[in-house]
Amino acid sequence: MVPIRATILPANDDSLDRACELLSSGELVAIPTETVYGLAANAWDADAVAKIFLAKGRPSSNPLIVHVASADEIGRAVRMPLSRPLQKQLDSLVDLWPGPFTVVLPVNERIPSLVTAGRNTVAVRVPSHPVASALLRRCPFPIAAPSANKSKYVSPTTADHCVSGLGDDVALVLDGGPCDLGLESTILLLDERGPRLLRPGTICAEDLASRLKVEVSDLIVVDNDKSESDPSFISPGTMREHYSPRTPLRLIGDDEVNSVVPPGTGRIAFRALTSEIASRYERVETLSQNGVLAEVSHNLFAALRRLDQSGLQVILIDQCEPVGLGRAIMDRIHRAAAGHCEGDTSEH
Ligand code: TXA
Ligand code: MG
Repeated sequence: MVPIRATILPANDDSLDRACELLSSGELVAIPTETVYGLAANAWDADAVAKIFLAKGRPSSNPLIVHVASADEIGRAVRMPLSRPLQKQLDSLVDLWPGPFTVVLPVNERIPSLVTAGRNTVAVRVPSHPVASALLRRCPFPIAAPSANKSKYVSPTTADHCVSGLGDDVALVLDGGPCDLGLESTILLLDERGPRLLRPGTICAEDLASRLKVEVSDLIVVDNDKSESDPSFISPGTMREHYSPRTPLRLIGDDEVNSVVPPGTGRIAFRALTSEIASRYERVETLSQNGVLAEVSHNLFAALRRLDQSGLQVILIDQCEPVGLGRAIMDRIHRAAAGHCEGDTSEH
């Protein structure tokens, strides 16, 4: 039997109207954002939000990000007014919106508890992608949207990735082309215990620390070894094993020049390899000719997916210094490798 596939439409006025109608009637729509594609539902509609968890196979203990059209609209999800200290911290960050930046703040009473996994906080962001912005401006409700992939698989950066993961569980996929950034948003928790980085992203920890006048080391939290259902777990999505391809992924060390590469090995390189080294691998994906990290992040997930579908035994991948954007890139790579790297106890 031919599987039913979701409709993909190029994003334009008509398809945006259709997307808005579908969301208003409680359906799911996959939408492009500047980070990754999101699986969108009306964030005020608990039944619609429940469909997200079903479609993704996502545990109900893992809360969703709520998207709004502008910083002025965060009251659609966040309990306002904020306390003076929280408002002051948010003021120093607010010009990061629209953009790849998510803040966790106290939740208001209109957001169903399913969205927040029963927490008293909500993650909120203002995306900058023109299609996401246009849709949010059309809809009289905020949009809950996790990445549009099956739980624990690699996030989607094209419309096709959404369809191959979710099939007809999604009513419509709006095609806005490949996502510019290719990594999920930076997530920052603001509460009375001080700001904490829950997920590194393109908006880097160094930038946030300087705006908030704190040390980078004060922003970093590590609670990844707790169980996801532990209520004290700050951010369930920071579990170690996440974003994983099915093919084992290993980080490549400095000993590459002398190492023997077994048959069936694929390679993801951050910069062009010499032809001698490239010829040792069955498949090579070059993320950037010259190792430009913005190109590495833009291409990373699509390359992981391609190699994962190539019947390889193992994929070897480069590393970079975990600072700035490199922190976000290495975070995703460590997680993708986590299911496969026995004995790797590094923090990520
Ligand atoms: O770039 C992005 O953020 C994309 C696009 C679609 O906006 N969305 C995304 O959503 O990556 P998702 O569901 O894949 O990741 C959301 C993360 C999870 O790690 C979740 O645990 C965390 O946000 N999160 C959501 N609400 C939270 C809360 N109240 N407290 C702590 N963490 C929260
Ligand atoms: Mg995700």
